[in-house]
Amino acid sequence: MTSAAPTPDWQRWLSRWEAQQGRYMPDRETRFAMMIDAVEALCGSAPYVVDLGSGPGSLSRRLLDRLPQARVTAIDLDPVLLAIGRNALGDHGGRLQWLDADLRSRWNAREDGPVDAAVSTTALHWLQPNALAALYRHLGTVLAPGGVFVNGDRMEFPPDLPRLAAAAQSIRERQESGDVGDAESWEDWWAAVEQDPGLAAEVAERARRHHDHPDHEHQADLATHIQGLREAGFAEVGTIWQHLADRVLVAIR
Ligand SMILES: C[S@@+](CC[C@H](N)C(=O)[O-])C[C@H]1O[C@@H](n2cnc3c(N)ncnc32)[C@H](O)[C@@H]1O
Repeated sequence: MTSAAPTPDWQRWLSRWEAQQGRYMPDRETRFAMMIDAVEALCGSAPYVVDLGSGPGSLSRRLLDRLPQARVTAIDLDPVLLAIGRNALGDHGGRLQWLDADLRSRWNAREDGPVDAAVSTTALHWLQPNALAALYRHLGTVLAPGGVFVNGDRMEFPPDLPRLAAAAQSIRERQESGDVGDAESWEDWWAAVEQDPGLAAEVAERARRHHDHPDHEHQADLATHIQGLREAGFAEVGTIWQHLADRVLVAIR
């Protein structure tokens, strides 16, 4: 006779995720707040938002808490992170839905009415430049005219700024070697997830999807993001917040 695996402690996995991500981004809360400020300033207090590469819903939750009339569709393809988000956050009073989809496909947000804003944090550097350009073309059709895209992520200095890029990199390395308290690393967090028998099915599905992080050499730099957004028809594209190469880039359709 086999006994059922114990139910994961979803809230604990979510808070361990937040701590782990915060280890790499000491400014994470400031960046989240800035992004939500931008959505509110440009779309008002009741927007319909898609969160691209939502993970377990870190930004979605903060946006729904700050804007009580907002609705969000959180999109990701990682079965582990989706399970943590779905179980820890649920549907947030009917205002949060989850979509298991690959941003490299022509995903459909499944809501009636226009999408006012697309947001994303620490996610789009996973896409290769051609996939990023395709996503931006798709966003150009998904967002209503006047809709906004707000991306908080590392977007490297372009090749014509090599000394700035090197200086930013060395400052970042020095900052990262400082005290991180007892926050887990990315690798330790995933190793712990793999030990939880209640997450075995999601871990196996994740492995089946071969969902690997790309190497940093082949990530789109800031100029590639701006060019892709302009070519997709976005009228205004600019940085509204920055810490070294970590930026909040806003584009208005
Ligand atoms: C570092 S996590 C960030 C999660 C969350 N936005 C946050 O700030 O905590 C990157 C996320 O992007 C997702 N992601 C990467 N490539 C993706 C793709 N092609 N389609 C959907 N999600 C993707 C990963 O599964 C992961 O959840």
